[in-house]
Amino acid sequence: MSKRLRVGVLTGGGDAPGLNAVIRAVTKSLILRHDAEVIGIEDGFLGLIEKRIRPLAYGDVSGILTLGGTILGTHNKANPFSYFNRGGADVSAEVIKYTRSLGMDAIVAIGGDGTMSIAAKLQERGLNVVGVPKTIDNDIVGTSRTFGFDTAVSIVTEALDRLHTTAQSHQRVMIVETMGRYAGWIALHAGVAGGADVILIPEFEYDLEEVVKVCKDRESFGRSFTIIVVAEGARVRGGGMTVDRQVTDSPDPIRLGGVGRVLQLGLEQSIKSEVRTTILGHVQRGGTPTAYDRNLASVFGSYAAKLVEDGAFGQMVALDEGRITTVPLESVANKTRRVPTDSPVLQAALAVGTSFGNPNLTFTLDNAALMA
Ligand code: F6P
Repeated sequence: MSKRLRVGVLTGGGDAPGLNAVIRAVTKSLILRHDAEVIGIEDGFLGLIEKRIRPLAYGDVSGILTLGGTILGTHNKANPFSYFNRGGADVSAEVIKYTRSLGMDAIVAIGGDGTMSIAAKLQERGLNVVGVPKTIDNDIVGTSRTFGFDTAVSIVTEALDRLHTTAQSHQRVMIVETMGRYAGWIALHAGVAGGADVILIPEFEYDLEEVVKVCKDRESFGRSFTIIVVAEGARVRGGGMTVDRQVTDSPDPIRLGGVGRVLQLGLEQSIKSEVRTTILGHVQRGGTPTAYDRNLASVFGSYAAKLVEDGAFGQMVALDEGRITTVPLESVANKTRRVPTDSPVLQAALAVGTSFGNPNLTFTLDNAALMA
């Protein structure tokens, strides 16, 4: 009798809505099609370093499709190639030995660029790994969408809708600061969906005078409220990003935050209207995933299970123009996918007169390209 397929599953990096939907899809597919043994690895790669695992039976993943967070826990500092609890020591050989001792045929690693980078290195050293791209930031190269993004955009859009009514009532300038790290996807998509007047994203430096001009123009038209969405990584021309803190033992130590307040202080020097700032923070990552994210997570999870069955290791599941495909793990590691100028959503914003605080950014696409 042949040995049962044994597959580990872990969630690494920051959490995102839809992680549980992936865990469920991977586990159920492998059990139903192969009677596989699925092993949950706790707190990302930390579980492999500290030997914390647990079996995942079919019943363990029932009822988790709609849950935010991750039933396995996650960790954004756990890196076997630089273990924070042992002064940055490389413990990858121990991790590989432990994984082999468990008889694991493969690991499904669900995470962002940092997780994919670790996965690629473990694959190179002989473990079989399949990646699933996760992040609310939507900034992983090789895939046009990550699960978690749609939920974050919905949360920000709802906040913008709510802030619109109070901004209008008080004739205030309302600044909303979003997450997104070094990419402006969340701010752009929510800003367009929420009808923001100004959207500031890291991809295009902004001029404070341009933002002042929008507020003043609106005042002169009798609309003295303005909605501004600013991504946490946005930069004023010639300036740097606004750093909230440094998390020294994290693979990406910089935590952005505070750009909304910086912008507020700048605007208050030049305009009459009151200015207020709302920082949405981790609210964007919490709670139940949208239907879109549940679907995408389920598709990614079941496809990852298929890759394991087919022995197609060293690959990350990806979405390419609506079709599911794969890209090599190493092509994704430590890279960032940023908003291009020909993004249809960016162009749609420009077409309706939304300001990006940057006079060089103008509408360039024809309608055919917009609909593509
Ligand atoms: O990558 C997801 C993300 O939420 C970013 O948008 C944000 O910059 C960062 O993680 C926040 O990290 P932490 O949860 O460690 O504060």
